Amino acid sequence: MNLEKAIKDLLEKGFLDLPIDKNINLIDEINRLRKEKNAVILAHYYQVPEIQDIADFVGDSLGLAQQAAKTKADVILFAGVHFMAETAKILNPDKKVLLPDLLAGCSLAESAPKDKFEAFKKQHPNHVVVSYVNTSAEIKALTDIVCTSSNAEKIINSIPKDKEIIFAPDRNLGAYLIKKTGRDMLLWDGACEVHEEFSLEKIKALQKEYPNAKLIAHPESRDYILDIADFIGSTSGLLKYVQNSDATEFIVATESGILHKMAKIAPDKTLIPAPPMDDDNSCACTECPYMKRNTLEKIYLALKYEKPEVTVEKELAKKALVSIERMLELS
Ligand code: 13P
Ligand code: SF4
Repeated sequence: MNLEKAIKDLLEKGFLDLPIDKNINLIDEINRLRKEKNAVILAHYYQVPEIQDIADFVGDSLGLAQQAAKTKADVILFAGVHFMAETAKILNPDKKVLLPDLLAGCSLAESAPKDKFEAFKKQHPNHVVVSYVNTSAEIKALTDIVCTSSNAEKIINSIPKDKEIIFAPDRNLGAYLIKKTGRDMLLWDGACEVHEEFSLEKIKALQKEYPNAKLIAHPESRDYILDIADFIGSTSGLLKYVQNSDATEFIVATESGILHKMAKIAPDKTLIPAPPMDDDNSCACTECPYMKRNTLEKIYLALKYEKPEVTVEKELAKKALVSIERMLELS
């Protein structure tokens, strides 16, 4: 079978698992390819440490979208999940956007299928639609303003008080925003499978063990976790809080990939990952299985063969761009 055919077949699986020469140094090769192709590697804080360490930029969803909007690179390799790469493509229709593994999805994005969301929107034609960036291009095209957890409060507050709001798809972030802004929003019933896993009982037990520890949580977590948190913020918000706080111990309720950056910027602080609900403490439920599909090997192969590529149909991209640009203007 020739290489072209093998690549085509593998892409149907979502990623290239072609054999890699054992004698090459993966990081040297990634560096060579990124230079040769004028590529930029953007990585989310939930990526494995070795990917964060080779990225040109590591950030939260908003920071990554902002970097994608201003990059001069010809190729964007997105070490994150599909909706992030798709957002980068919508912002850069003429650039090549690579996602090392197309199966790197998101349970939150999947919780809002286009047809159901469109029907819901039709039932409330006068509502302003605010959607979390964790959505497909189809949902963004049905949205008035996109937001991330960093700017959601600001975006909700920018909407005139006499307007009613639909917030999708994260019910936990939505409920948190209702409390913060006092706006009575209609919430879509979606959730992140990772952030819903934290155990209240185990966190309370940790708080007894570490009475001075601050509990910090991402707003995708359930309300009973947010209710007892000392600080709630996006991934970059949590990082800043740990760096600037006088406290020395933190229980961290977000995907565990963040601990790599947190330990780097606050090396003298004690970071305790918030535990999941499983009974025998054996699951890796606080690791996002989609984020963790990316590997250095897949990044090398994606840069080498310039595949898998994320594409968005032109008309759809034009519609989705409007709601993303509104967010960027307001951020
Ligand atoms: P932020 O990086 O915006 O905090 O979002 C976290 C997340 O769940 C991304 O998928
Ligand atoms: Fe989606 Fe949750 Fe994974 Fe973020 S952590 S990509 S919201 S499933």
